[in-house]
Amino acid sequence: MLLHVDLPQSPYDIVIEHGSLLRVGQWVKSLWKPQKIVIITDNHVGRLYAEKVKLSLEDSGFEVAVFDFLEGEARKNLTTVNKAYEFLTKTGMTRSDGIVALGGGVVGDLAGFVASTYMRGIHFLQVPTSLTAQVDSSIGGKTGVNTPYAKNMVGTFTQPDGVLIDPDTLQTLGKRELIEGMGEVIKYGLINDTELWDELKRMDGSIDSILEHAESIIYRSCNVKRKVVVEDELDNGVRLYLNFGHTIGHAIEATAGYGQVMHGEAVAIGMVQMARVAEKKGLMPQGMTKSICTMCEKFGLPISYDPWDIEILYTALTHDKKARGKTIKTVIVPELGRAAIHQIPLEEMKEYLER
Ligand SMILES: NC(=O)c1ccc[n+]([C@@H]2O[C@H](COP(=O)([O-])OP(=O)(O)OC[C@H]3O[C@@H](n4cnc5c(N)ncnc54)[C@H](O)[C@@H]3O)[C@@H](O)[C@H]2O)c1
Repeated sequence: MLLHVDLPQSPYDIVIEHGSLLRVGQWVKSLWKPQKIVIITDNHVGRLYAEKVKLSLEDSGFEVAVFDFLEGEARKNLTTVNKAYEFLTKTGMTRSDGIVALGGGVVGDLAGFVASTYMRGIHFLQVPTSLTAQVDSSIGGKTGVNTPYAKNMVGTFTQPDGVLIDPDTLQTLGKRELIEGMGEVIKYGLINDTELWDELKRMDGSIDSILEHAESIIYRSCNVKRKVVVEDELDNGVRLYLNFGHTIGHAIEATAGYGQVMHGEAVAIGMVQMARVAEKKGLMPQGMTKSICTMCEKFGLPISYDPWDIEILYTALTHDKKARGKTIKTVIVPELGRAAIHQIPLEEMKEYLER
C-alpha cells in the first residue's frame, strides 16, 4: 500500500507493507544513491531490528553505522542530540549522506531533529516501529526534543524523504503501547474517516484483531494525517483537527505526571470528556459520547481518570495558553467523520472539565 504526501517543496511516499523491513535496503536504494547511512535507534528497537536493517542496507551498497541511545521519553533531549552529532562527526557524515530513524516516536522525533540541524540539514527517512509512530509521529515533519522547560520545546518542521512502515514490527511492541496507539486511530475515524470507524466497529478489540487489521488501519490513519498535513504543513489551521481530545488529554498527562497516563490513553479520556460536554451543549450528536466510550473500552483504553480535580486540570490546561489570549480553540466532531474548530473563552473551558 502506498500513500503520497503531496507537499510542494518536499513530496514523499509512505509505504505500508507486511515484511517490508527486510527489504529496507531496496527501498532506500530507490530513493538515495550509494552513501553513508547512520541508523538512529533506541536500545529496545536496536536489539530487535538494527542488525537486520543494517544488513539489508549493506546488501544494497550502503556504508552503515548504528547510533543507539537508552529508550524512553527522558532521553529525548539535547544531551542525546549532542551525542548523536558527535557520532555523526566521528563517522564522517557529510551533507550528501543520510539518517534512517528506526523506532518509535521518541527515535523519530529525535533523529529527525538531528538530521534537520546537522550541517544545516541532511536527508533522513522514517522507519517507525510503534503504532503511535506508524499512524502519527513519522508523518508530517514535526521533529523535536524536550527541554527542562517543556516537552517538544526545541524542534523543526522538516519532512523525511520517505516513510517505510512494516506492521509486522508491532508483534514485538508491548501490549500497553499497542493499545495506546489505538487512541489516535479512533480519533482519525471520528474526525475524518467513517470507513475506518466502521472497520474499528467490526473488530473485536483484541490484540490479535489489532495485528490482523494493522495494515489497513495504519493506511487509513496515515491517509487522514497526510491530507491534513498537505493542507496545513506548518500547523496554522486545519492541522488543529488532529488535536481532538488533546487539549484535555495534555492537561491529564501533565497533572498525572508524565508517563503515568500514556499519551494515547489521555487522548481517549480527553475525547470522551470533550464529547460528553459538547453533546450536552448540542454541539455534537446525541449518542456520540456513548459510541466513543464503547469503542475506547473495547480496545482496552481508559475513559476516565481519578482524581479528577477541575481546578488543577484547568490550571494545567491554561498554563501556556494564557499568553496567547483570552480564548481557546477546541476541536469538536459535529458529525461522525467531520471535525470543526470551536473557539471559546478560556474561562468556558471549565465547563468542558465538568463531569
Ligand atoms: N512528531 C509528531 O508529530 C509526533 C506525534 C505524536 C507523538 N510524537 C512523539 O512520539 C513520542 C511517543 O512515541 P511512542 O509512543 O512510539 O514512544 P517510544 O518511542 O518511547 O516507544 C515506546 C516504547 O516502545 C519501544 N518500541 C518501539 N517500537 C517497538 C517494537 N516494534 N518492538 C518492541 N519495542 C518497541 C520503544 O523502545 C519504547 O520503549 C513522544 O515523544 C511524542 O512527543 C510526535
